[in-house]
Amino acid sequence: MQGDYPTTRLRRNRRHPWLRKLVAENHLTVDDLIWPIFLTEGKNQTVPITSMPGVQRFSVDLAVEGAKQAADLGIPVIALFPATPTDRKSPDGEEAFNPENLINLATRAIKEAVPQIGILCDVALDPYTTHGQDGLLRDGYVVNDETVEVLCKQAVVQAQAGCDIIAPSDMMDGRIGKIRRALDAAGFIDVAIMSYAAKYASAFYGPFRDAVGSAGNLGKGDKKTYQMDPANGNEALREVEIDIAEGADMVMVKPGMPYLDIVQRVKATFQMPTFVYQVSGEYAMLHAAAERGWLDLEKVMLESLLAFKRAGADGILTYFAPRVAKLLG
Ligand code: PBG
Repeated sequence: MQGDYPTTRLRRNRRHPWLRKLVAENHLTVDDLIWPIFLTEGKNQTVPITSMPGVQRFSVDLAVEGAKQAADLGIPVIALFPATPTDRKSPDGEEAFNPENLINLATRAIKEAVPQIGILCDVALDPYTTHGQDGLLRDGYVVNDETVEVLCKQAVVQAQAGCDIIAPSDMMDGRIGKIRRALDAAGFIDVAIMSYAAKYASAFYGPFRDAVGSAGNLGKGDKKTYQMDPANGNEALREVEIDIAEGADMVMVKPGMPYLDIVQRVKATFQMPTFVYQVSGEYAMLHAAAERGWLDLEKVMLESLLAFKRAGADGILTYFAPRVAKLLG
């Protein structure tokens, strides 16, 4: 009878909580978190975002408070995104390189009050253009090289404000090398670049576009001529390889949960500091199901983040960051 049973029993190591802790291969810690926040004009203002329950746009003064709380929780980096007032948007998005735009004001204020937290700034034109595209639109097409020139200006202005990590999310070709050279030429040799290297043309960005107010501008348009086709995996490796060759210090895959295979392949192939963005639609999805009582929010939140670690991510951009940090703390 005994011989019919296995000598190897994997359940042995699952038997007790202490034993499961002992053999756990991956861990989620607060050190893994990057918290994206949205900015709005005014003072003492918070504006809720309907499609992202629990997420608000902060005026700069309250963003400083948020950064303080994040630093106290041990979150290493915050990422800044602006809801640009409509009257500051234009076809070519010049507000992107205004030294006094929301991003730069917030960066200066946070650097001054909370120097111990890292600041990541997104580089792309979509929060600033009247058409909601990430680059310059000429005859209905987002042109590459001319856009890159503007992105370089945007990046340098952000570095001048005190940004620590420049994160180009525009998916133009050649922008990492050009931005690196522009930063170096302006004296910012120590400002890092985290490239949104494998960024897909995803429908999961919907709530973000509400948050920065670009959804109405983009209308029925899409970003398929520059963001990647969800059908492709090998191409993601080419994107990452080129960005590394051009000088990226860290690379990112985006979105997160539907693209864990890409995270895994990127990390295994390049062994670079690899990040993943759990995007607005992923956040909204988990919240919506939890609100209906269909999922346990805390559990699915922690499970989804741990899954990124298992896939090979070194860090995660997530709107859950402060909530997770409190739970882990
Ligand atoms: C801007 C940008 C987007 C996101 C981050 N940077 C939107 C887009 O490309 O349309 C999405 C983030 C999210 O959905 O949480 N280029």
